[in-house]
Amino acid sequence: QTVVAVVPAAGVGSRMQADRPKQYLLLNGKTILEHTLNALISHPAVSRVVVAISADDPYFFSLPVANAPWLTVVTGGSERADSVHAAVITLCEHEWALVHDAARPCLDHHDIDNLLMVIEDSKVAGGILATPVRDTMKRAQVSGGDPVVRHTESRENLWHALTPQLFRAGELRQALAEGFSQDLAITDEASAMEAAGYRVALIDANPANIKITRPADMPLAAFYLQQISL
Ligand code: CTP
Ligand code: MG
Repeated sequence: QTVVAVVPAAGVGSRMQADRPKQYLLLNGKTILEHTLNALISHPAVSRVVVAISADDPYFFSLPVANAPWLTVVTGGSERADSVHAAVITLCEHEWALVHDAARPCLDHHDIDNLLMVIEDSKVAGGILATPVRDTMKRAQVSGGDPVVRHTESRENLWHALTPQLFRAGELRQALAEGFSQDLAITDEASAMEAAGYRVALIDANPANIKITRPADMPLAAFYLQQISL
């Protein structure tokens, strides 16, 4: 079974409010994107990586990793799902696409191992890393003014979706295309696969695998990176 990592790295990082897209910020001496690529390619099951970058990206080709033989670069799109699609169409139908956000450098091999087990599971089309929701969940009332609580949602069976997300490239490509044509909100790979009727396994994962989104996430990620052994 060939597993190809797909890394959407074409975002602008608006919530980070930095002078460059967040995947190019330094964390413990290396860019976030380099940490992420290393976490993937250093896993023995991952044979190559396809990274989607922005058409006008001035940073990527200065990275030492840019000319690595295991790396393919494609041009991403305006939404994350467009960037993933641009990468997935370069894969063979039967290959497994391990889709992982560039902004999640704190991925450990143990979680990749657990996710790869879905390949042997004939009851599901693929799977995603996820963590059970811990906080009490409130549904807000939206009608004008400051938000107030309408009611408390049950936390039972609620999970946070993380990445990587693992699916057959052919099935994922088709599911994404169907999602685009139906104008679905595709915020992760699983949402496209679910809409196409596939069963998706939830793999209970390490919550240290945060998506760096806001400035306060940087010191957290730096801490988690030091804890990880690849
Ligand atoms: N991404 C992408 N193509 C896009 C938008 C996002 O490849 N058109 C990637 C980002 O680079 C990131 C991942 O998808 O690695 C998760 O997206 P997010 O955390 O939302 O990153 P940004 O879109 O860059 O950040 P923001 O939403 O704050 O602008
Ligand atoms: Mg975004």
